[in-house]
Amino acid sequence: MYLKTLIYAHRGASKYAPENTLPAFNLAYEQKADGIETDVQLTKDNIPVLIHDDTVNRTTNGKGFVHEYTYEQLRELDAGLWFHYKYLGTRIPTLDDLLKWNQKKRLQLNIELKNSKLVGNKLEKIVLNKIKAYRMGHLSVISTFSMKSIKHLYEINSTVGYAFLTSKNKPGFIEKCKELHVSGIHIRYRLLNRRIFRNAKSNNLYVAVYTVNHPVTLIRSFQYPCDAVITDVPNIAVRYRDRIQGEI
Ligand code: G3P
Ligand code: CA
Repeated sequence: MYLKTLIYAHRGASKYAPENTLPAFNLAYEQKADGIETDVQLTKDNIPVLIHDDTVNRTTNGKGFVHEYTYEQLRELDAGLWFHYKYLGTRIPTLDDLLKWNQKKRLQLNIELKNSKLVGNKLEKIVLNKIKAYRMGHLSVISTFSMKSIKHLYEINSTVGYAFLTSKNKPGFIEKCKELHVSGIHIRYRLLNRRIFRNAKSNNLYVAVYTVNHPVTLIRSFQYPCDAVITDVPNIAVRYRDRIQGEI
């Protein structure tokens, strides 16, 4: 059976709304994205929150490392104003907020662990427990740049899908993914070529590309066809995908 390329909104529809916030997720849903890509890390009191950078400096009105804030402190910060004043009052969401939001929406979720410096802390287990509590294993794929983290995830739970993220074509990485029971590879768009694509497919791995925003690169990704595209502009991606792969 031929399936269309899935479109994941990168940090939500982050071109149009503040990244990794509920307004960006809502907009992605309205723009008909199939899924949400988001970044998760732990606060000082081990609450999983959705934020990309390891500090709050760029995307809030606060300063300092996320892991030095308790959740109570973090929710005082404004995560919308830096983007546009109409988003004043937007908070950094927790993973619970997203999972609750998705109970009705039922989008695919790509939860990226931002743990490359802190692998083996509690993040893997906490995220897996949340996904289980909301019964969203079948809708979720957890991605990480760390092979060590993937190994750890699989040891805790072998039923959720895991994806290896990479921006480098290191020799043997696809074979290593296979060995670690990875479901797919999420590669930086510029790594996409026929050799990697075929190698991944022959090892039964799906192929997703990030972060694809330009029409030329979107079209190429749909023509391959990649299994998923991670984009800041889901509205544009959906339009090209449906034109190339049909409306059904
Ligand atoms: O998941 C793809 C992409 O989000 C990985 O890079 O830095 O945008 O989290 P980054
Ligand atoms: Ca990410």
